[in-house]
Amino acid sequence: MSELFTRFKLKSVELRNRIAVPPMCQYMATDGLSNDWHLAHYTSIARGGAGLVIVEATAVSPEGRISPGCLGLWSDEQAEGLAQIASAIKKAGAVPGIQIAHAGRKASANRPWEGDDHIPANDPRSWETISPSPVAFGGDLDKTPREMSIVDIKRVCADFAAAAKRARDAGFKWLELHFAHGYLAQSFFSTHANKRTDEYGGSLENRSRFLLETLAAVRSVWPENLPLTARFGVIEYDGRDEETLAESIEVTKQLRKNGLDMLSVSVGFSTPDANIPWAPAFLAPIAEKVRNEADLPVSSAWGFSTPQLAEHAIANKQLDLVMIGRPHLANPHWPYFAAKELGVDKPSWVLPAPYAHWLERYRT
Ligand SMILES: Cc1cc2nc3c(=O)[nH]c(=O)nc-3n(C[C@H](O)[C@H](O)[C@H](O)COP(=O)(O)O)c2cc1C
Repeated sequence: MSELFTRFKLKSVELRNRIAVPPMCQYMATDGLSNDWHLAHYTSIARGGAGLVIVEATAVSPEGRISPGCLGLWSDEQAEGLAQIASAIKKAGAVPGIQIAHAGRKASANRPWEGDDHIPANDPRSWETISPSPVAFGGDLDKTPREMSIVDIKRVCADFAAAAKRARDAGFKWLELHFAHGYLAQSFFSTHANKRTDEYGGSLENRSRFLLETLAAVRSVWPENLPLTARFGVIEYDGRDEETLAESIEVTKQLRKNGLDMLSVSVGFSTPDANIPWAPAFLAPIAEKVRNEADLPVSSAWGFSTPQLAEHAIANKQLDLVMIGRPHLANPHWPYFAAKELGVDKPSWVLPAPYAHWLERYRT
């Protein structure tokens, strides 16, 4: 009996199994608009059998995009394209989710395969970046952001709420706030990026304020019966891990008390000087700790790349959902492959009939 292939219910939403596709930027949009690439990509992955498919980091404002190729959700036209994608994911039997994001000081960058660095200021494709403090990330992302005013902070919170409303109206049933990976919300939490001396900097309470205010703004428009989740970098691997993890768990408890339904446990990526212990499923014990201490369902990613690792994390209650990212790029039918590997009776049930019929009949 596989635990990975048991159903998972959160609020009114039920997933057909514990496999989720995490947000993965495609960098293929123009002016934040989705196109044929996105529709084909997400349809194909959803047909592969995962329970949840989360659409890539989608910017709440033009300046919140990581790159000029990122999706946006600041206009109704963008929402129309995303509604088609949500509908296609749903038709394929998966729950459509979306991650809404603001890239903060890591915005205005070239696509990964075009350099992954900041676009030079004299290039017409670049734009001004904003962050809690005028401190550059470093390395290839060396542009100094403008320090956000209180007006900027309130405006970005409102942008998150407006994007959440559009996501809701576009038919998404699962919303993830991007509070991770060194982007804007993570930068408020992290002392690597946040040097403010006002009510948004300094103490843990102050550094959590932007996250809690964003959650409150979104919760007020996102339906109570639908999951509202966040991806959060709970650890940096910068030598201060015990302290950061303890603070992260404290913030997670606050988020839970204020309406967060689940946390996707990730790495902070707030400094280029981190020493990340890359290994298969390395975040599993960290996620388990957050799950137990913050008393919230969790998911995680990074290297759960074999069915056995994914099964182990679910069966041992380290995770409630396992995110399978790059393996889905290599094989959109990863869930079928996993079901076969784990000895699930009739593994082809995860596939649509035109595939399942033949795979069931001619199994060799
Ligand atoms: C092409 C690509 C794009 C990504 N884009 C995002 C993103 O939009 N939002 C996010 O939170 N993480 C993003 N990530 C991180 C993935 O969600 C995931 O954590 C990572 O791929 C590790 O999981 P894996 O080992 O199963 O691939 C991206 C990763 C890849 C490979």
